[in-house]
Amino acid sequence: MKKLTASLFITALLLSAVSTTVSATGGAGVEHSGANISDTASLQRGAKWYVNYCLGCHTLSYMRYNRLAADLGLSEEMVMQNLVDSNAKFGDTMDIAMDADQANSWFGKTPPDLSLIGRSRGSDWLYSYLRGFYKDETGGWNNTLLPNASMPHVLWHLQGIQTPVYRQETSESGFTHEVIDHFELATPGTQSTQEFEETARDIAAFLEYVGEPAKLKRKGVGIWVILFLVLFTFIAYLLKVEYWRDVH
Ligand code: HEC
Repeated sequence: MKKLTASLFITALLLSAVSTTVSATGGAGVEHSGANISDTASLQRGAKWYVNYCLGCHTLSYMRYNRLAADLGLSEEMVMQNLVDSNAKFGDTMDIAMDADQANSWFGKTPPDLSLIGRSRGSDWLYSYLRGFYKDETGGWNNTLLPNASMPHVLWHLQGIQTPVYRQETSESGFTHEVIDHFELATPGTQSTQEFEETARDIAAFLEYVGEPAKLKRKGVGIWVILFLVLFTFIAYLLKVEYWRDVH
């Protein structure tokens, strides 16, 4: 019986290890994204948004177009027609021709490569970041998760322009300061709030996938590993019963 308990315990441990996906999010204002990398249509939309709105500044140096095609169920023709508008080849990595020094002088900062951002920030953070741009009092763009970010809100015409409504908050030490209470949509965008949430979710899911393409496979394999373990535990138990019958 002890052995059975032990193997059940190990199975449970493995189960919990597989089902817990750790993402490095945290901090204020991070919302649940609902991003799902098993949703291929969402990844395809995310890839399209990314190529159209992000790749101009942010490379994905670890991702190749042909890998993307294979994982997202796209043909070479579809990728070359819809996702490549430079003279890149099918086997190339998703790089851009923007000069790093030039970018630095335009934005005061070089836009980082986003190959691994899905791992370091997690999809919830990315989703919230994309929805967290607003126009502050200076008339410039700001972001709730990355205050004074030097990235402009590149999706503003989809989301529209939000402006913050502040409220006073008094800390324990008695200081009063202003915090953002909520946003108002000062200028509507071409997408509704819900549509824009989906756009942000698709891009976040796409970046989560890019951060760890093997996750797609691993998730698929995981269920078989667990089924095997459960079956094996059962067989081990039957074997044990059989042995102990002789002992008694
Ligand atoms: C016009 C150039 C430009 C475009 C287009 C652009 N970004 Fe950025 N992005 C930047 C710059 C510059 C930074 C650095 C911001 C900073 O650290 O202040 C940045 C930072 C980021 C970061 C934060 C990285 C970190 O953790 O510090 C993320 C995430 C990001 N961009 C995602 C995107 C996504 C997704 C898109 C497409 C929807 C996009 N960017 C389009 C210029 C751009």
